[in-house]
Amino acid sequence: MAEERKRVLVVGGSGYLGQHLLAALAPATDRLDVAFTHHNQAPPQLLLDALPSVRAFRADLRSGDGLEAISASFGQVRFCIPTAPSSSSSGLPASCLRLHVGLVHLQIASACACPLVVYYNAVQTILSAVHSILMKCVVKFCSPVLTVYEGVKSFYKEEDETLPVNMYGKSKVAAEKFIVEKCSNYAILRSSIIYGPQTVSPVAKSLPIQWMDSVLSQGQQVEFFNDEFRCPVYVKDMVNVILSLAKTWLSDGKKVQVLLNVGGPDRVSRLQMAESVATVHGYNHNTIKSVSASSVNRGVASPSDISMDITKLTQMLSIKPISFQDGVRATFDAEAS
Ligand SMILES: NC(=O)c1ccc[n+]([C@@H]2O[C@H](COP(=O)([O-])OP(=O)(O)OC[C@H]3O[C@@H](n4cnc5c(N)ncnc54)[C@H](OP(=O)(O)O)[C@@H]3O)[C@@H](O)[C@H]2O)c1
Repeated sequence: MAEERKRVLVVGGSGYLGQHLLAALAPATDRLDVAFTHHNQAPPQLLLDALPSVRAFRADLRSGDGLEAISASFGQVRFCIPTAPSSSSSGLPASCLRLHVGLVHLQIASACACPLVVYYNAVQTILSAVHSILMKCVVKFCSPVLTVYEGVKSFYKEEDETLPVNMYGKSKVAAEKFIVEKCSNYAILRSSIIYGPQTVSPVAKSLPIQWMDSVLSQGQQVEFFNDEFRCPVYVKDMVNVILSLAKTWLSDGKKVQVLLNVGGPDRVSRLQMAESVATVHGYNHNTIKSVSASSVNRGVASPSDISMDITKLTQMLSIKPISFQDGVRATFDAEAS
């Protein structure tokens, strides 16, 4: 008997990471049914043109609108990769929290379309059945380490205390707690800044390397913080991490219960990031002005040093993220080709 095709849903697939994930999943659409959600009225046309076998659904995670249509039309999701929403602004109010709670709507919508016997044949109650089924397929993605740690030391480990300094971080921690308590399978990825080439259908927001490149290319003096440290991760490394976890679950059927820092190997300030961009593109370093983050009032608390220890990631998945400088080169090479 032919094996049932597995369904993978990328929530927020029209976004930066989502589009890179979809592009990486596209070659597997002979074996997988892949769909994504978007929030804008229409999905990005260039993305649909480039990936014709991938289905698009409009969904609003704040209200849950559109989620039932996914269950009804696409069916029960085997592997769900929520990548929405994004905001680098850490001052997001309660709506941010609601968006994460919206993930729950999604999971419930998926469960409704799922025959309970498929995964668990010894489930005692409807409630635990729903949770079990849901959480067999859910991968909670991307709690930015940007906000879940307090940011007062270097190279945070996963087991270090989470102490978010703003509402955005609090909502991520709340979502993590929910997932850990309720899910039998999950992967919580705490991501640093994600950088890399532009997407098939360009995203409107400013991308970090491209923004630095554009200001440095103008030859005018630009200020960069010298005392806020991150471990930027190349987008394709992030995609590899997710696909590796997906493979473990989809092919091997192994239980997945992980919480991982996902960052690059280098602890860098914005100043050092700009210097790498200048080096790779041969710009004059004299235009890069070093300033303290405390010289600017951004209106929200921003942790100083949230560099991360990625030993667990490299040991568990045997994935070694590339250095920041190599990632910058790869970004420009990909955009030039
Ligand atoms: N990018 C980074 O540097 C970074 C770093 C750490 C963690 N993260 C996390 O990684 C995830 C993905 O980031 P990203 O940069 O790829 O995000 P992004 O480009 O901003 O994409 C956001 C996605 O969410 C959708 N969306 C927005 N509001 C929504 C709503 N109310 N209901 C349902 N969907 C909604 C968007 O749909 P439309 O396209 O239709 O608007 C889009 O598909 C986020 O959770 C973010 O917090 C990102």
